[in-house]
Amino acid sequence: ETAKAGTASAFAFKEVAAGVDADHHVAEGYEADVLLRWGDRLFPDAPEFDPTKQSAAAQVRQFGYNNDYVGFIPLAGSSTRGLLVVNHEYTNPHLMFPGLVTITDGKVKQGALTKEQVDIEIAAHGGTIVEIEKVNGKWRIVLESPYNRRITADTEMMMTGPAAGHDRLKTQADPSGIKVLGTINNCAGGVTPWNTYIMAEENIHGYFDGKLPEGHRETANYKRLGIPEGSYEWARFYDRFDIGKQPNEANRFGWIVEVDALDPRAVPKKRTALGRTKHEGAESIVAKDGRVVFYLGDDERFDYVYKFVTAGKFDPNNRAANMDLLDEGTLYVAKFAQDGTLAWLPVVFGQGPLTSANGFESQADVLIETRRAADLLGATKMDRPEDVQPNAHNGKVYVMLTNNTKRGGEQVDAANPRAKNAFGHIIEIAEADGDFAATQGKWEVLLKCGDPSIAEVGATFSTETTKNGWFGMPDNCAIDAAGRLWVSTDGNTNKATGRTDGLWAVDTEGPARATSKLFYRVPVGGELCGPLFTPDDETAFVAIQHPADGGDDWDGHGRPSYYEDLSTRWPDFKPDMPTRPSVVAITKTEGGKIGI
Ligand code: FEO
Ligand code: CA
Ligand code: CA
Ligand code: CA
Repeated sequence: ETAKAGTASAFAFKEVAAGVDADHHVAEGYEADVLLRWGDRLFPDAPEFDPTKQSAAAQVRQFGYNNDYVGFIPLAGSSTRGLLVVNHEYTNPHLMFPGLVTITDGKVKQGALTKEQVDIEIAAHGGTIVEIEKVNGKWRIVLESPYNRRITADTEMMMTGPAAGHDRLKTQADPSGIKVLGTINNCAGGVTPWNTYIMAEENIHGYFDGKLPEGHRETANYKRLGIPEGSYEWARFYDRFDIGKQPNEANRFGWIVEVDALDPRAVPKKRTALGRTKHEGAESIVAKDGRVVFYLGDDERFDYVYKFVTAGKFDPNNRAANMDLLDEGTLYVAKFAQDGTLAWLPVVFGQGPLTSANGFESQADVLIETRRAADLLGATKMDRPEDVQPNAHNGKVYVMLTNNTKRGGEQVDAANPRAKNAFGHIIEIAEADGDFAATQGKWEVLLKCGDPSIAEVGATFSTETTKNGWFGMPDNCAIDAAGRLWVSTDGNTNKATGRTDGLWAVDTEGPARATSKLFYRVPVGGELCGPLFTPDDETAFVAIQHPADGGDDWDGHGRPSYYEDLSTRWPDFKPDMPTRPSVVAITKTEGGKIGI
């Protein structure tokens, strides 16, 4: 099965055997090389990573934690030299700080963080821009590159678009409502057709603590987003994360952030026109008429799929003319009808229920409370929409729906057909006339995920799919240069099935449709993000988050995996090194295009 001949599959590689162990594994004939680890130096003056002496000052010059989105911005059109842009979604203090967790008489206790540790967390969030080059078939970072940059949860940014400067975005520190510090929980993202870097702010609720003043205007707004959750300790040291002290600060998060990676001094911009939700990502494509379409998932049970269509057109010959395209356009939310048709409903002030009768006085209000606006429009409540990826080759759009076990019988609909959707599914959208800017389309379920050998799971992988090839919990995905779909997972790790998260090749065309093959799997406890193919399809970048995070009982002994007791020390395998989230470059040993 290494050859395509005789099969209908678009992929030719020998599948990896599913399993769980301390290392990562890639298909035979390929190499998976660690390119960037948490703490790796990004500048000539950056200190070497020392986990026992880590500081915020060091962290801000080093690669951040929990790499998620990976994008590649070619320099001079090259596939072997470019900027790698990487989101650092969140921090795992129990895996980062030696001695933070103690186990006494079998009782696990995590201590309070010091201010320095909180500052390390703040510096380990955000993103990295780093120049990389491929020399003799291997990727390496260019330490001296003028493009190298860290963006953190403390970097100065600007609010732009319809909500910028609105009263609800003003704080004591920023009476303008325009200047904001930092970006948090940057999950997936995108690279625009004009080669800017998009960071999506996702689970922002965890960073805020405290209690709104009684009867505060943002009460319903924050409740809809689960703010505050208080899972981080930042509010103990910084008032802006305490909504009792700075009630509007949380309105300045939950946006799509655009960064000009080619200008290291550029101020990142929070583009309010694309709405405020728990944004998974923002993958884009140029429509037939030159407008640009961004697809946006809002990752929560019963939340929505959105798209944003720019008002202006992309100009491939004038980069400067594209730089503010994201400030003007129309946000839409998806309604998946039972008959397989799809309507994109405008999320626009003054239209339908989005008026003062429902508390909206402007488009700024609509955008600040995007979810409540979409509720009123009657959009379709989905099973946790994650990455949404357009495919220029077949005119389709792929929606990863990761899972939702709380739907229950009466809320089942055609687009979310399982009452207890433990393994997720993938929807394929065909926009009307193949026009990504269309306001109508059709949809069908490409794949219901899970173990096809268990009838009640109801998975719909093709019969060609082996026991290694099925997966659950689709999260991120990529379309390679040949137009093929690759899916990575979050939560597929399961001791009962002996599986981890990984990267799967999924056929979408012809008789092989819904056939899946395992190409790469992560070390125990890890989650797979990225994935991203270089324009020549000769490299796949993947990002492994939180290896060794064993909170979900991976080995059957209920053993949490803390710094002093790790289930894996990947990728260094040294006793004085913690496990480290890392970006991996996958190439063919003999060179050439992947999966062919
Ligand atoms: Fe950060 Fe929706 O995963
Ligand atoms: Ca994700
Ligand atoms: Ca993607
Ligand atoms: Ca994830």
